[in-house]
Amino acid sequence: MSDWTIPQDWAGYSPGEHALWDTLFARQVALLSTRAAPAFLEGLDVLRLSKPGIPDFAELSERLRQATGWSVVAVPGLIPDEVFFENLANRRFVAGRFIRKPDQIDYLQEPDVFHDVFGHVPLLVNPVFADYMQAYGRGGLRSMQYGSLHRLARLYWYTVEFGLIRDGAGLKLYGAGIASSASESRFAIDSDSPTRLQFDLRRIMRTHYRIDDFQQNYFVIDSFDQLLRETLETDFGPLYAELDVLPEIGIGIVLPGDRVLNRGTQAHAARGRAPGSVHDVN
Ligand code: PHE
Ligand code: FE
Repeated sequence: MSDWTIPQDWAGYSPGEHALWDTLFARQVALLSTRAAPAFLEGLDVLRLSKPGIPDFAELSERLRQATGWSVVAVPGLIPDEVFFENLANRRFVAGRFIRKPDQIDYLQEPDVFHDVFGHVPLLVNPVFADYMQAYGRGGLRSMQYGSLHRLARLYWYTVEFGLIRDGAGLKLYGAGIASSASESRFAIDSDSPTRLQFDLRRIMRTHYRIDDFQQNYFVIDSFDQLLRETLETDFGPLYAELDVLPEIGIGIVLPGDRVLNRGTQAHAARGRAPGSVHDVN
């Protein structure tokens, strides 16, 4: 398989690019101290490196390797699915090297280094989540043999990118798409607009998602142990065949069998998308 990695060229970032990272970092840390899962906040320390600004992947990887054996490698942008999965299966997280422009501070279509590193890397310090990501990579390669990549992609979307987790009586965020977005980190935790359902593997694999605005439904796990256990212990081969004969589930819909934590008003979705209200990335 060809190698899609590129040098990060840390020395090639401008002072303005490092300053933009620092601005985004400070803003998210302030928002997340009360909203992110404790494991995410603990993992953030791995990003506090000796140099200011955008993390140097070499230094970051050294820290990660010591914690869980993961490393971070730079890629030019979106890469083929199997290359992405193959890297995860080998405990390598692929990250974009570019950073958004200052006028894109709140809105960006393609994941940049802030989303990829700030959003995803902290949880790779957590041993259970680190194992989940590797298992996901292996499962991704397997899903392609079943023509069921879209189902596995939904699992990634509703956990790795937009997952919520129970924390005592409350809820916290852990998904990277939420954690790297100022507006969605508020929305996902504070708003009564979205519906929050209990994690349900089969349900997730039938559920569409939106890429152009805040999510209309989030799925809540009890713990990373639960997430790892349920996904590892289920053989997805027969499951894919089972799900193929069931109807797909649209976004923002609540079904009779759903375990609903709170039923959203869907007021945000009903208002339609105002310019600038689109979430930051992914
Ligand atoms: N158990 C899944 C399979 O049989 C693999 C997997 C594990 C997928 C963890 C995602 C997360 O394919
Ligand atoms: Fe992402």
